[in-house]
Amino acid sequence: MARPLHLITISVTVALSAYLGPLLLSHFIPSQFIQHHLTNVDLSFLLAPVLSIFRTPLTTDQRCPEHTYTTHLISLDPLLIYISNFVSQSESQSLIELSSPLMEPSPIVSRGSDSAGSQARTSWSAPLPEDSGLVNCILSRSSSFLGTLLSPGRDEMGPAQVVRYTDSQKFDLHTDWFSRPRITDEDRETGRRRLYNRVATFFVVLQSNVTEGSGETWFPKVKPITPHPTGTTAEGGRVWREHENGGLAFKPIPRNAIFWVNLMPNGTGDARTVHAGLSVKGGVKTGMNIWPRVFFGPDA
Ligand SMILES: *[C@@H]1O[C@H](CO)[C@@H](O)[C@H](O)[C@H]1NC(C)=O
Ligand SMILES: *[C@@H]1O[C@H](CO)[C@@H](O)[C@H](O)[C@H]1NC(C)=O
Repeated sequence: MARPLHLITISVTVALSAYLGPLLLSHFIPSQFIQHHLTNVDLSFLLAPVLSIFRTPLTTDQRCPEHTYTTHLISLDPLLIYISNFVSQSESQSLIELSSPLMEPSPIVSRGSDSAGSQARTSWSAPLPEDSGLVNCILSRSSSFLGTLLSPGRDEMGPAQVVRYTDSQKFDLHTDWFSRPRITDEDRETGRRRLYNRVATFFVVLQSNVTEGSGETWFPKVKPITPHPTGTTAEGGRVWREHENGGLAFKPIPRNAIFWVNLMPNGTGDARTVHAGLSVKGGVKTGMNIWPRVFFGPDA
């Protein structure tokens, strides 16, 4: 947390005034001495009441840059929101650099277990490091977006993942929620009795130079809210088209994200969130998945 210098100086002065007496302080200790020598001492016990006013809320971190995204409502049920400029150009670049050395063939969840190398999913993926300041800023931004959807202290943002599709790679129709809620590796080790499911998804496009009309994210069961929509945002960009086999297909546009809610209020997975990463032609598409987790069970 940033500690504004003037606050520290005021607090030190107040504390020392009380202790040494105002006369001593003002006549025998030059104020430069107090500022220079005493601000490096750990005086957090004196500052705590003052600084507690400035303590940051759970979901925002003041070291993170302000977000500059805009939102576009696409579907109400299931809820799907298109987010323009969710990450900046430099954030995208850094996330790609962080993940590149960690890329492996994407695992796929089938019948509750992971198996690599399936034809249904032919991409590359990498977990993003959890100790990265940048990754935590993006997770914090996502957490703020969710508002009250997660319960603090109980639910978690989960780890973020980068996924890369090169020529002819795809991810066939699937849902992001689990038909049977899962247990984290850590909980399995410690015996904590709680299960989780992926309540929502952020799919953020970090980079794309694929052939026009390829590499879209297709939601065959999602319908637009109004009868004659064009898929064009207020800023004028075409972000989705009606797919020939029904539903909407979103074009991979760098820095933009698709957000949707996976679970119904009773915790059941919403089958209408089924989607595919359509085959990429002629270039590379790199995205980031964020899957916020809700927890259930006696130890949740
Ligand atoms: C959960 O809610 C959905 C939608 O209302 C309903 O179709 C489904 O049967 C419910 N599932 C359970 C287990 O209650
Ligand atoms: C697409 O972008 C990737 C990653 O930046 C690059 O390696 C590749 O050469 C580009 N391909 C085309 C067809 O522009």
